[in-house]
Amino acid sequence: MAENLIIGGELKSEKYETLIPQIKALVLGESDQVANMANVAAALKQTFGFFWVGFYIVRNNELVLGPFQGPIACTRIKKGKGVCGMAWEKRNTILVPNVDEFPGHIACNSDSKSEVVVPLLLNEEVIAVLDIDSDKLNDFTTEDVYYLEQIVGFLS
Ligand code: SME
Repeated sequence: MAENLIIGGELKSEKYETLIPQIKALVLGESDQVANMANVAAALKQTFGFFWVGFYIVRNNELVLGPFQGPIACTRIKKGKGVCGMAWEKRNTILVPNVDEFPGHIACNSDSKSEVVVPLLLNEEVIAVLDIDSDKLNDFTTEDVYYLEQIVGFLS
């Protein structure tokens, strides 16, 4: 297992291209999902310095806070609530350029300005979501979605 993460390139796409094979190598050799989520959150934080990056895991029909990097966060989110609960209900990635314009956004931290949530599906059921928050507006694009969906795919 790689112990040092290599952060490559200047462009976001170059950073993702360098990161993805390392994440793949890290998680494919380990069957424990919490361990893998923890390393994915850490690798994303280390590479991009996102304000908050982490997972919410479906437990007893609620999302419960899982491995994350960043400030303390809300612990439980109901289906359909906030960006995370909506991504769970819709089983789709949700990109939020401005959290103040997303009806029902849950503000765990008032510094969060934009957000992307990618569901993790197993046998067509959402078992967790990856949530990334930025303290800048419009910080995520479809390019992030393209790469983050690949990364989340390694966890199913
Ligand atoms: N903003 C999220 C809640 C989780 S925190 O951002 C870590 C939401 O609306 O679901």
